[in-house]
Amino acid sequence: METLKLSTNSNDIKQAGEIIRRGGLVAFPTETVYGLGANALDEEAVKSVYLAKGRPSDNPMIVHIADATELELLVAGGMISLGEDVFKLMNEVWPGPLTMVFPKSAMVPDITTGGLDTVAVRMPSNGTAYRLIKSAKRPIAAPSANISGRPSPTNAEDVLEDMDGRIDAVIMGEQCDVGIESTVLDMTGEVPVILRPGILSREYLSDVLGKEVVYDSSLMTVPDELADPEAGAADTSFKPRSPGMKYKHYSPKADVILIEGSAERFEKRSRELGLDAMKQGKRTAIIDYGDDPKKAAHKFFSDLRELDRQGYDLILVRALDRRGRGFGVMNRMLKSAGYEVV
Ligand code: TXA
Ligand code: MG
Repeated sequence: METLKLSTNSNDIKQAGEIIRRGGLVAFPTETVYGLGANALDEEAVKSVYLAKGRPSDNPMIVHIADATELELLVAGGMISLGEDVFKLMNEVWPGPLTMVFPKSAMVPDITTGGLDTVAVRMPSNGTAYRLIKSAKRPIAAPSANISGRPSPTNAEDVLEDMDGRIDAVIMGEQCDVGIESTVLDMTGEVPVILRPGILSREYLSDVLGKEVVYDSSLMTVPDELADPEAGAADTSFKPRSPGMKYKHYSPKADVILIEGSAERFEKRSRELGLDAMKQGKRTAIIDYGDDPKKAAHKFFSDLRELDRQGYDLILVRALDRRGRGFGVMNRMLKSAGYEVV
């Protein structure tokens, strides 16, 4: 199929909205990463997202809305059932890089939520995303617009690298501001639980709510590699784990190694490892964002893709401090390195 390259002008956004309405797939920019959008309420359309991404169909999608009132349709019991915490977060953080998980209504097809009885919803702050959802007049289910396992795309060229010929259209918008995916927060219990960390830190969200937000326990350990459907294993009941098995997620073609510690240690270790690699005829690239989690989030995925295009074999990355905003970026860095830290 030929993939249309659309601009952000109003005619093109109108066309993109029509494509979504008739069941097609459109990649579009958000403030976090590019999404691969389909009508969230159309089973067939959502099925084709899984196909285009090469993603197992039990990995649930995030539903994108332009207006908080759309929750009425998506959430079991409607908006009146939502607690005070949800309204605080909606007021303070939406539109923005926060996804909240709620009990789902019958309107949302099972395929959209991977068979779960909850639905993840996000209101993006990116203007193009907003205009697309408005133009489609439908909530838009959108995973990141990459082939499953690859780094998420943060610019239109990176989307085309994975999706050209596989989807109906790409909106050729701007470079994403944030650069890593939204924080996913489970709001179905008493205590909000971070299921996926993002640029909005646990500390910040706790401040907004005036109560403790916690991390899901899986985020505090090296997770069961086989339990992540996007990593290629659909069967989450399959437990045996082989230590050291490479976790394929956010993976460039090159090997990635994280180096912890001070700037001096990074310099020394990267020189040693680079020299070893050179002796084996391998080319090494170095990524050092200092101690700037915002910059690291903004650049990490696109740097990985760029270094792949340049044909590097090994990428050495300076690890960030895991506290505060660094936590979300380190989550991506660790996965892309298959948890190889020296
Ligand atoms: O920033 C983002 O969230 C981007 C942009 C496009 O909005 N989207 C994104 O989607 O990252 P995706 O499909 O790559 O990741 C969705 C994450 C997955 O970790 C998925 O397991 C989780 O959200 N998720 C979705 N629905 C869920 C649910 N009902 N319960 C728990 N987790 C859910
Ligand atoms: Mg993704």
